[in-house]
Amino acid sequence: MNDPVRVWHRLAGACVLLDGFHALKHAVRFGAEVPVAVSADRSAALALADELAPDVRDTLDALLSEVPRETYASLVPRPHPTAVAALAVRPSREVNLRTLAHAPRSAPVVVLDQPRNLGNAGAVIRLAAGFGATGVVTTGTLDPWHPTVVRGGAGLHFATAVERLDVDELPRGPLFALDPEGEDIRGVKLPDDAVLAFGSERSGLSAALRARTDHLVALPMRPQVSSYNLATSVAMTLYHWSATGGAPAP
Ligand SMILES: C[S@@+](CC[C@H](N)C(=O)[O-])C[C@H]1O[C@@H](n2cnc3c(N)ncnc32)[C@H](O)[C@@H]1O
Repeated sequence: MNDPVRVWHRLAGACVLLDGFHALKHAVRFGAEVPVAVSADRSAALALADELAPDVRDTLDALLSEVPRETYASLVPRPHPTAVAALAVRPSREVNLRTLAHAPRSAPVVVLDQPRNLGNAGAVIRLAAGFGATGVVTTGTLDPWHPTVVRGGAGLHFATAVERLDVDELPRGPLFALDPEGEDIRGVKLPDDAVLAFGSERSGLSAALRARTDHLVALPMRPQVSSYNLATSVAMTLYHWSATGGAPAP
């Protein structure tokens, strides 16, 4: 059998770190390829699987190798309370582009236009996964597969197509951009093939994104409040889509 620590060192640069039991559980559930998974306490990890994830328990049993606690700690930036870590193969850009371009689309694509905050991006990917969105596209320089984003996404990058694109490469579909100056979203039905765009934390929607916008829509807000947090805005918008006929994927 391959030494898991050797495999880890060979693959770490090219793979995505799944930090903790829950990230591994989600990634496995949504079909990630996991070449190596380690735990400093394998029986505790499997007990968690029995309790929280019986659907993937056998897969985790086959994947997890026990390593000494110091070895585990040397493989991760910061030990996780569950003492579980794994590496997953990042889906190829081609596969993600195919998913994003597939028509007809049964759930929106979320676009974060030049986001800055890695934690916001992770939270949005988790939301998109929860609502069964087709994908999350970022424009600008933030890498949506940055380890901090993956940590914030709780392993759910594998449940939705996550890619960085230029504004002129965005998937087709009616572009609804969210902005406090837009039309009240409560009177708007968001179609399943909508592209839902959100501006950056600092400066809102870019001119390039605005130029492509079909509909500018606003979330209800008291006049004295300037704006909501980015991830919160995505949550409200996806909820509005689901509550007005769209449905999270089963
Ligand atoms: C923190 S806000 C950006 C604030 C920024 N200072 C600005 O000038 O717009 C981040 C993004 O969340 C969305 N957003 C926040 N509050 C909103 C609201 N009331 N209606 C629609 N979108 C909103 C917009 O897409 C916005 O660009």
